[in-house]
Amino acid sequence: MADFLKDRIGVVTGASSGIGEAVARALVDAGCPLVLNARRKEKLESLRKELGDEDVAIAAGDCADAEVITHMLDLAKDRFGGGKGKLSPKREADLIVINAGRGLGGTALTSDESQWDDLIRTNITAAARLIRAAGRRLLASIPENQIKHDGQWLERPRDIVILGSVVGRHVSPFSSFYSCTKAAVQTLAEGTRRELGPKGIRVTLVEPAFVTSEFQAVAGYSPEWYTQMVEKFGPMLSPADVARAIVFAVSQPAHVHLSDFLIRPTRQEYP
Ligand SMILES: NC(=O)c1ccc[n+]([C@@H]2O[C@H](COP(=O)([O-])OP(=O)(O)OC[C@H]3O[C@@H](n4cnc5c(N)ncnc54)[C@H](OP(=O)(O)O)[C@@H]3O)[C@@H](O)[C@H]2O)c1
Repeated sequence: MADFLKDRIGVVTGASSGIGEAVARALVDAGCPLVLNARRKEKLESLRKELGDEDVAIAAGDCADAEVITHMLDLAKDRFGGGKGKLSPKREADLIVINAGRGLGGTALTSDESQWDDLIRTNITAAARLIRAAGRRLLASIPENQIKHDGQWLERPRDIVILGSVVGRHVSPFSSFYSCTKAAVQTLAEGTRRELGPKGIRVTLVEPAFVTSEFQAVAGYSPEWYTQMVEKFGPMLSPADVARAIVFAVSQPAHVHLSDFLIRPTRQEYP
């Protein structure tokens, strides 16, 4: 399985905590070198220390910032893309995990309006900008005849993985305004899958339900409320549970695509 992670180059956004951090650990463990992004540089530095300098590079900053996005992709290519001049140019990152995101409790009537712009920018605009930048580079890296030639397929998979949420599909009774952003992410992912799938690029939407991480505090959920949810639905997912599922999906041969999956704590019946 891990063979399909050999010789690949990854980028993970939101790697300073939770699911992104767990995905970073799992991918490096499977032999995939990575560029890590998040705003808290010191957290990324300590993860790099743990995982090793050789396989980890850091592009800290706001994931919605176009310059930060360019830096993530350039750094991946320069540090890990190999290459020997014109005959064998450097390779681009080919495993992009668009994970950075945030929650917000409440509805359009009750949520904190001062946080709407940041929510929309982080969950939707940043994802769209990275899809666009990485998608264009990946398309340019695939030779015209490589996909259809005599039924042969790509020599290695290419992936864009996007973190949606179960509440993008089933409107959340606790945070319906956040649901709107993840519904947009679902549409963005499916539209991009239809565009890039035929060219050999897998665009995968991962929709977790309750995962215990920094997410709850950032969303403004009260600890008492979350304790009630744990009693009702727990054991909750851990970030490592989601990371394992992502690594399984991207470890498939290039012609196999687990394109869209929900992952819930077993006892969570809704949403
Ligand atoms: N936890 C859940 O229950 C749950 C359920 C469904 C979906 N999700 C989705 O899964 C993804 C990861 O969530 P999580 O549970 O791992 O939450 P988390 O522990 O809060 O991690 C969020 C990560 O995103 C980064 N981030 C936030 N805003 C950023 C920005 N503007 N620029 C760069 N990085 C930014 C944070 O790092 P910095 O603060 O250092 O920037 C952090 O590394 C999110 O997209 C979330 O919506 C979570």
